Amino acid sequence: MQLKIYKDHGSSSDAAASEIIELVKNKPNAILCMASGETPRLTCKLLVEKAIAQKVDLRHITFIGLDEWVGIPPENDGSCYHFFHTEIFKPLNFSADQVHLFDALSGNLEEECLKMDATIFEKGTIDLMIVGIGMNGHIGFNEPGVSFNNYSHVIDLDEITISGGQKYFKTPATLKRGITIGLKHLQESKKVLLMANGTKKAGVIKKTVQGEITNEFPASIMQTHTNGFVMIDEEAATLLDHKK
Ligand code: GLP
Repeated sequence: MQLKIYKDHGSSSDAAASEIIELVKNKPNAILCMASGETPRLTCKLLVEKAIAQKVDLRHITFIGLDEWVGIPPENDGSCYHFFHTEIFKPLNFSADQVHLFDALSGNLEEECLKMDATIFEKGTIDLMIVGIGMNGHIGFNEPGVSFNNYSHVIDLDEITISGGQKYFKTPATLKRGITIGLKHLQESKKVLLMANGTKKAGVIKKTVQGEITNEFPASIMQTHTNGFVMIDEEAATLLDHKK
Protein backbone atom coordinates (compact mmCIF):
# COMPACT_ATOMS: atom_id res chain seq x y z
CA MET A 1 0.00 0.00 0.00
CA GLN A 2 1.15 3.51 -0.70
CA LEU A 3 0.07 6.70 1.00
CA LYS A 4 -0.39 9.76 -1.18
CA ILE A 5 -0.99 13.10 0.46
CA TYR A 6 -2.34 15.88 -1.76
CA LYS A 7 -2.51 19.58 -1.04
CA ASP A 8 -6.30 19.57 -1.12
CA HIS A 9 -9.36 17.55 -2.07
CA GLY A 10 -9.37 19.07 -5.56
CA SER A 11 -5.91 17.69 -6.32
CA SER A 12 -6.64 14.17 -5.04
CA SER A 13 -9.96 14.10 -6.92
CA ASP A 14 -8.20 15.25 -10.07
CA ALA A 15 -5.64 12.46 -9.70
CA ALA A 16 -8.38 9.86 -9.17
CA ALA A 17 -10.34 11.07 -12.20
CA SER A 18 -7.15 10.91 -14.29
CA GLU A 19 -6.57 7.32 -13.10
CA ILE A 20 -9.94 6.34 -14.53
CA ILE A 21 -9.31 8.18 -17.80
CA GLU A 22 -5.88 6.56 -18.26
CA LEU A 23 -7.29 3.14 -17.45
CA VAL A 24 -10.04 3.49 -20.03
CA LYS A 25 -7.61 4.82 -22.66
CA ASN A 26 -5.50 1.69 -22.19
CA LYS A 27 -8.39 -0.71 -21.67
CA PRO A 28 -11.71 0.51 -23.10
CA ASN A 29 -13.58 -2.47 -21.64
CA ALA A 30 -12.16 -2.04 -18.13
CA ILE A 31 -14.13 -2.99 -15.02
CA LEU A 32 -14.54 -0.07 -12.64
CA CYS A 33 -16.05 -0.38 -9.18
CA MET A 34 -16.87 2.83 -7.33
CA ALA A 35 -18.30 4.10 -4.09
CA SER A 36 -20.84 6.87 -3.93
CA GLY A 37 -20.91 9.48 -1.16
CA GLU A 38 -19.48 12.93 -0.57
CA THR A 39 -15.86 11.93 -1.07
CA PRO A 40 -15.99 10.79 -4.73
CA ARG A 41 -18.46 13.45 -5.89
CA LEU A 42 -15.74 15.78 -7.15
CA THR A 43 -13.89 12.87 -8.77
CA CYS A 44 -17.07 12.10 -10.72
CA LYS A 45 -17.46 15.71 -11.82
CA LEU A 46 -13.84 15.89 -12.99
CA LEU A 47 -14.15 12.50 -14.67
CA VAL A 48 -17.09 13.75 -16.73
CA GLU A 49 -15.21 16.93 -17.65
CA LYS A 50 -12.05 15.04 -18.65
CA ALA A 51 -13.93 12.38 -20.60
CA ILE A 52 -15.72 15.05 -22.63
CA ALA A 53 -12.64 17.28 -23.11
CA GLN A 54 -10.37 14.37 -24.09
CA LYS A 55 -13.07 12.52 -26.04
CA VAL A 56 -12.65 9.36 -24.02
CA ASP A 57 -15.65 7.08 -24.43
CA LEU A 58 -16.55 5.26 -21.22
CA ARG A 59 -19.46 3.39 -22.72
CA HIS A 60 -17.52 0.16 -23.12
CA ILE A 61 -16.53 -0.15 -19.48
CA THR A 62 -18.39 -2.30 -16.99
CA PHE A 63 -19.45 -0.22 -14.00
CA ILE A 64 -20.00 -1.91 -10.65
CA GLY A 65 -21.69 0.02 -7.84
CA LEU A 66 -19.97 -0.68 -4.52
CA ASP A 67 -23.00 -0.78 -2.27
CA GLU A 68 -26.60 0.22 -1.59
CA TRP A 69 -28.93 0.89 1.31
CA VAL A 70 -31.36 -2.04 1.56
CA GLY A 71 -34.96 -0.90 1.11
CA ILE A 72 -34.13 2.52 -0.34
CA PRO A 73 -35.63 2.91 -3.82
CA PRO A 74 -33.46 4.12 -6.73
CA GLU A 75 -35.49 7.32 -7.17
CA ASN A 76 -34.67 8.42 -3.62
CA ASP A 77 -31.89 10.96 -4.04
CA GLY A 78 -30.05 9.49 -1.05
CA SER A 79 -29.62 6.16 -2.83
CA CYS A 80 -26.30 5.14 -4.33
CA TYR A 81 -28.18 4.45 -7.57
CA HIS A 82 -29.37 8.05 -7.71
CA PHE A 83 -25.85 9.33 -7.08
CA PHE A 84 -24.30 7.32 -9.92
CA HIS A 85 -27.14 8.06 -12.28
CA THR A 86 -26.85 11.81 -11.70
CA GLU A 87 -23.07 12.11 -11.45
CA ILE A 88 -21.90 9.64 -14.10
CA PHE A 89 -24.42 7.62 -16.09
CA LYS A 90 -26.54 10.47 -17.39
CA PRO A 91 -23.74 12.94 -18.26
CA LEU A 92 -21.69 10.22 -19.96
CA ASN A 93 -24.60 8.49 -21.69
CA PHE A 94 -24.04 5.10 -20.10
CA SER A 95 -26.28 2.27 -21.26
CA ALA A 96 -28.25 0.11 -18.82
CA ASP A 97 -26.37 -3.03 -19.80
CA GLN A 98 -22.97 -1.68 -18.79
CA VAL A 99 -23.98 -0.80 -15.24
CA HIS A 100 -24.36 -3.28 -12.43
CA LEU A 101 -25.85 -1.95 -9.22
CA PHE A 102 -27.43 -3.89 -6.39
CA ASP A 103 -31.23 -3.89 -6.46
CA ALA A 104 -31.87 -2.93 -2.86
CA LEU A 105 -35.60 -3.59 -3.22
CA SER A 106 -35.16 -7.18 -4.35
CA GLY A 107 -37.15 -9.80 -2.49
CA ASN A 108 -34.11 -12.05 -2.77
CA LEU A 109 -31.04 -10.14 -1.70
CA GLU A 110 -28.89 -13.28 -1.52
CA GLU A 111 -29.58 -13.78 -5.21
CA GLU A 112 -28.60 -10.14 -5.85
CA CYS A 113 -25.25 -10.86 -4.23
CA LEU A 114 -24.70 -14.03 -6.27
CA LYS A 115 -25.67 -12.15 -9.43
CA MET A 116 -23.12 -9.40 -8.70
CA ASP A 117 -20.38 -11.94 -7.94
CA ALA A 118 -21.19 -13.84 -11.15
CA THR A 119 -20.97 -10.60 -13.16
CA ILE A 120 -17.55 -9.80 -11.74
CA PHE A 121 -16.22 -13.34 -12.25
CA GLU A 122 -17.62 -13.54 -15.80
CA LYS A 123 -16.12 -10.22 -16.85
CA GLY A 124 -12.82 -10.89 -15.10
CA THR A 125 -11.14 -9.06 -12.26
CA ILE A 126 -12.06 -5.54 -11.21
CA ASP A 127 -9.39 -3.30 -12.76
CA LEU A 128 -9.91 -0.31 -10.53
CA MET A 129 -11.83 0.06 -7.29
CA ILE A 130 -12.35 3.53 -5.80
CA VAL A 131 -13.68 3.58 -2.26
CA GLY A 132 -14.27 5.99 0.58
CA ILE A 133 -14.15 5.33 4.30
CA GLY A 134 -16.87 5.54 6.95
CA MET A 135 -16.36 7.04 10.39
CA ASN A 136 -16.16 3.50 11.81
CA GLY A 137 -13.56 2.38 9.27
CA HIS A 138 -16.01 0.69 6.93
CA ILE A 139 -15.43 0.31 3.22
CA GLY A 140 -18.67 0.05 1.27
CA PHE A 141 -20.86 -1.57 3.90
CA ASN A 142 -18.15 -3.83 5.21
CA GLU A 143 -18.79 -2.96 8.82
CA PRO A 144 -16.50 -3.61 11.80
CA GLY A 145 -16.25 -7.36 12.47
CA VAL A 146 -16.86 -8.34 8.83
CA SER A 147 -14.83 -11.17 7.35
CA PHE A 148 -12.01 -10.18 4.99
CA ASN A 149 -13.03 -13.24 2.93
CA ASN A 150 -16.53 -12.20 1.94
CA TYR A 151 -17.64 -11.57 -1.58
CA SER A 152 -20.94 -9.66 -2.00
CA HIS A 153 -23.16 -9.86 1.04
CA VAL A 154 -25.95 -8.28 3.06
CA ILE A 155 -25.05 -6.89 6.47
CA ASP A 156 -26.70 -5.26 9.48
CA LEU A 157 -25.55 -1.67 9.62
CA ASP A 158 -23.53 -0.32 12.50
CA GLU A 159 -25.05 2.47 14.63
CA ILE A 160 -22.43 4.94 13.33
CA THR A 161 -23.36 4.13 9.74
CA ILE A 162 -27.08 4.48 10.45
CA SER A 163 -26.74 7.89 12.10
CA GLY A 164 -24.01 9.15 9.73
CA GLY A 165 -25.95 7.93 6.68
CA GLN A 166 -28.78 10.36 7.36
CA LYS A 167 -26.68 13.09 5.77
CA TYR A 168 -27.54 11.71 2.31
CA PHE A 169 -31.32 11.95 2.83
CA LYS A 170 -33.64 14.96 2.76
CA THR A 171 -36.04 13.34 5.25
CA PRO A 172 -35.07 10.78 7.93
CA ALA A 173 -34.51 7.38 6.33
CA THR A 174 -34.94 3.93 7.85
CA LEU A 175 -31.51 2.41 7.45
CA LYS A 176 -31.02 -1.08 8.83
CA ARG A 177 -29.09 -3.20 6.37
CA GLY A 178 -26.68 -2.67 3.52
CA ILE A 179 -25.82 -4.75 0.47
CA THR A 180 -22.19 -4.50 -0.53
CA ILE A 181 -19.24 -5.72 -2.51
CA GLY A 182 -17.04 -7.69 -0.09
CA LEU A 183 -13.46 -7.21 0.95
CA LYS A 184 -12.42 -10.35 -0.93
CA HIS A 185 -13.34 -8.46 -4.10
CA LEU A 186 -11.21 -5.57 -2.88
CA GLN A 187 -8.24 -7.86 -2.29
CA GLU A 188 -8.65 -9.33 -5.77
CA SER A 189 -8.98 -5.96 -7.53
CA LYS A 190 -5.96 -5.03 -9.61
CA LYS A 191 -5.78 -1.55 -8.12
CA VAL A 192 -7.58 0.10 -5.22
CA LEU A 193 -7.79 3.79 -4.33
CA LEU A 194 -9.14 4.68 -0.91
CA MET A 195 -9.96 8.38 -0.77
CA ALA A 196 -10.58 10.63 2.20
CA ASN A 197 -10.49 14.33 2.90
CA GLY A 198 -11.00 16.77 5.74
CA THR A 199 -10.00 16.79 9.40
CA LYS A 200 -13.03 14.71 10.36
CA LYS A 201 -11.44 11.74 8.56
CA ALA A 202 -7.98 12.23 10.14
CA GLY A 203 -8.63 9.72 12.94
CA VAL A 204 -9.89 6.93 10.69
CA ILE A 205 -7.05 7.55 8.24
CA LYS A 206 -4.48 7.16 11.01
CA LYS A 207 -6.02 3.78 11.92
CA THR A 208 -6.23 2.76 8.25
CA VAL A 209 -2.60 3.51 7.51
CA GLN A 210 -0.82 3.07 10.83
CA GLY A 211 -3.18 0.95 12.93
CA GLU A 212 -3.38 -2.79 13.46
CA ILE A 213 -4.64 -4.83 10.50
CA THR A 214 -7.90 -6.18 11.85
CA ASN A 215 -11.42 -6.87 10.65
CA GLU A 216 -12.60 -4.76 13.59
CA PHE A 217 -11.37 -1.85 11.48
CA PRO A 218 -12.10 -2.98 7.91
CA ALA A 219 -10.19 -0.22 6.08
CA SER A 220 -6.95 -1.52 7.62
CA ILE A 221 -7.12 -4.20 4.90
CA MET A 222 -5.65 -1.53 2.60
CA GLN A 223 -2.26 -2.14 4.22
CA THR A 224 -2.24 -5.65 2.72
CA HIS A 225 -2.97 -4.61 -0.88
CA THR A 226 0.15 -4.55 -3.03
CA ASN A 227 -1.43 -2.09 -5.45
CA GLY A 228 -3.48 -0.11 -2.94
CA PHE A 229 -3.26 3.67 -2.63
CA VAL A 230 -4.63 5.77 0.19
CA MET A 231 -5.21 9.18 -1.38
CA ILE A 232 -5.89 11.93 1.10
CA ASP A 233 -5.65 15.68 1.47
CA GLU A 234 -3.42 17.42 4.02
CA GLU A 235 -6.30 17.84 6.47
CA ALA A 236 -6.96 14.09 6.60
CA ALA A 237 -3.23 13.54 7.17
CA THR A 238 -2.97 15.70 10.28
CA LEU A 239 -2.90 12.82 12.80
CA LEU A 240 -0.36 10.62 10.99
CA ASP A 241 2.89 10.02 12.87
CA HIS A 242 5.30 10.58 9.99
CA LYS A 243 3.93 12.33 6.96
CA LYS A 244 5.47 11.29 3.70
C1 GLP B 1 -21.06 5.37 3.26
C2 GLP B 1 -20.92 4.31 2.15
C3 GLP B 1 -19.49 4.15 1.71
C4 GLP B 1 -18.82 5.50 1.68
C5 GLP B 1 -18.65 5.97 3.10
C6 GLP B 1 -18.08 7.36 3.23
O1 GLP B 1 -21.86 4.92 4.29
N1 GLP B 1 -21.45 3.03 2.49
O2 GLP B 1 -19.43 3.50 0.47
O3 GLP B 1 -17.58 5.42 1.04
O4 GLP B 1 -19.86 5.84 3.85
O5 GLP B 1 -18.96 8.32 2.75
P1 GLP B 1 -18.58 9.83 2.50
O6 GLP B 1 -17.67 9.86 1.32
O7 GLP B 1 -19.90 10.50 2.22
O8 GLP B 1 -17.91 10.34 3.73
